[in-house]
Amino acid sequence: MTLPDLIVRPRRLRRNATIRQMVRETTLSTDDFIYPIFVDETIEEAREVASMPGVSRIPLSMVGEVTQQVAALGIPGIILFGIPAEKDAIGSGGWDDNGIVQQAIRAAKAASPETCVIADTCFCEYTDHGHCGVLHGEDVDNDETLLNLQKEAVSYARAGVDIVAPSGMMDGMIAAIREGLDDAGFKDLPIMSYAVKFASGYFGPFRDAADSTPSFGDRASYQMDPANRREALKEAWLDVEEGADMLMVKPGLAYMDIIREVKDATNLPMAVYNVSGEYAMVKAAAEKGWIDEKRVVLETMLSFKRAGADLILSYHALDVARWLREDKA
Ligand code: PBG
Ligand code: ZN
Repeated sequence: MTLPDLIVRPRRLRRNATIRQMVRETTLSTDDFIYPIFVDETIEEAREVASMPGVSRIPLSMVGEVTQQVAALGIPGIILFGIPAEKDAIGSGGWDDNGIVQQAIRAAKAASPETCVIADTCFCEYTDHGHCGVLHGEDVDNDETLLNLQKEAVSYARAGVDIVAPSGMMDGMIAAIREGLDDAGFKDLPIMSYAVKFASGYFGPFRDAADSTPSFGDRASYQMDPANRREALKEAWLDVEEGADMLMVKPGLAYMDIIREVKDATNLPMAVYNVSGEYAMVKAAAEKGWIDEKRVVLETMLSFKRAGADLILSYHALDVARWLREDKA
């Protein structure tokens, strides 16, 4: 038996680490990351989230210190979630100029002025029923919620936020927030839209962390059906037309095709949210010794970038920054 003459041998470019590095198409940098922070108005000390080992709710008094730690690792941005002491039916804590997120924004900016402080802009952490807006019966009233989103975004802007990130999947939320910000004199404040957010089981641990589980029903009447791909493009385009400055796809791992599709169809910076359930699965398997945490996490992050993400919101961000540093050394 004779073998064919192979002219093309891809293995030639995999022969050693140097050559592999030279032909590598995608790279990871700490610049790519945004670290989520949960600030709880009701606690005095950090409290670990049971389903998210390594992630804690922190009191307001720790926000400055944690923001500085993030900055020292070379991570450019944080995204804030607030757990207020008091909730009500409409989530009015969201637009209280002295609310927990507004205070956290001021603390973070004071401690680390160069850090890009993003505020998740929604109501599920502020409403006593846990839905992302004002209820009429069992339904979230879209347009009434838009009016409140305007107030919330403007209040965050007054506190000094660098980017607002509406996550409630209300129709017209980008246009409404843009108009609200512009009218209040914040024409240059960017909006990062959770443009394509699916009604996902992967948000489970977050709802413990942020105390935002809906008290009845689910979010399927506002978040997207995981089955839909064309609709994802429609959502992304709508937000582009309404003036979004950045887009996000969420969750990440189960939606790699959507990341690629939105990236190819639009021309805005694209973020992916590597959500709580994705984090919890990796942590649980790593604790059991079933996977190599560092290797799996770095591979996953690289894959988000390969799929088209420019920015990655991840609870792994601090570990990733440390690993990238140790690999360089
Ligand atoms: C609020 C919000 C959620 C997440 C980010 N912003 C929860 C939800 O929609 O239920 C999820 C983040 C995560 O799971 O890590 N609308
Ligand atoms: Zn919400």
